[in-house]
Amino acid sequence: MADGKVAGEFKKGKNMKRILTGDRPTSDSFHLGNYVGSLKNRVKLQDEYDTFILIADLHALTTHFDKTKDLEKNIRGLMLGYLSVGLDPAKVTFVLQSQVPEVLELAYFLGTLTPRAVLERQPALKEKLDQGEQDTFALLQYPVLMAADILLPKANLVPVGKDQKAHVEFARDIAIKFNNLYGEVFPLPEPLIGDVPTLPGTDGQSKMGKSLNNAIFLTDSPEEVEKKVMSMYTDPKRIHANDPGTVEGNPVFIYLDAFGADNDHEQITKYKELYRKGQVGDIEVKKYLVKVLNIFLDPIRENRARLERDPELVERVLKEGTAKARSEAQKTLAEVKSAMKLDYFDQNNQDTR
Ligand code: TRP
Repeated sequence: MADGKVAGEFKKGKNMKRILTGDRPTSDSFHLGNYVGSLKNRVKLQDEYDTFILIADLHALTTHFDKTKDLEKNIRGLMLGYLSVGLDPAKVTFVLQSQVPEVLELAYFLGTLTPRAVLERQPALKEKLDQGEQDTFALLQYPVLMAADILLPKANLVPVGKDQKAHVEFARDIAIKFNNLYGEVFPLPEPLIGDVPTLPGTDGQSKMGKSLNNAIFLTDSPEEVEKKVMSMYTDPKRIHANDPGTVEGNPVFIYLDAFGADNDHEQITKYKELYRKGQVGDIEVKKYLVKVLNIFLDPIRENRARLERDPELVERVLKEGTAKARSEAQKTLAEVKSAMKLDYFDQNNQDTR
């Protein structure tokens, strides 16, 4: 590998492709489902790509405009989550969206190329309206702002969940349209959809979610983990420990597969066999899962405790990343305006910029 740690500093390869991904700060904590679905992958990708992670507070406003008092706490919680799972500020640029106002300017330009019908047809909009969200202009415009997030740092790849794929395709379409009309400014971004299975909740529902009350959080104490696991949903058809049980789709085994370390595999395979034959009780397997999860979570908890001892750290990391992203954004926006012939006052000032 051309890049690596040099004198304690991570050197980005010059030809590294750029990744941009992000989260809306609508919560202050990550759960195991977030870890499996995105954080784990990001930790891996940070070594291979020039990674930008965006905290999309402007996007959060589309549904949480009446909860702005929580934003600061949520942003801090997300940052502590990122850093505690091993996302490294020497490799990752962390960006606070609202502090890069250039994104709104670009979103306006992209909006001029966007037929309203395209926005009205987006499935994500219908879904949010069905959930009772307010039918605002900002919600309609969501994909346009997201396209600006992606195009402003000239991202090549956008790791997102399946539900966000259409938004990345929209960003790509609009980049093509812009480039055709005004000249090549943007690389064409592509979605990167991991083939990660969705982690079920502790209640057996198909998805773990904070608001579903079926989540185990990265910040849960060992006791909380134990309590949640011991009351977890398993195989509802199994009443006695000697009834044959079902392993497939059983959240206890899905979690074991997802969080067991290499040296747990043998034991997990054994438990599956015994479970199918009705030769091991739920309680024994759950106790094992408690151990596995706490071994997985311990280093994350320790990292977090260490990070929290330096109260300014999170803010410093976010400020530095945002400053870097902003300077990139200004460069792109200057290119955009020049391509669009909107650089009236800049033309004779090239050298003073
Ligand atoms: N829409 C994304 C979500 O809800 C968050 C987001 C905003 C994002 N801007 C982005 C994701 C740009 C990837 C790229 O999860």
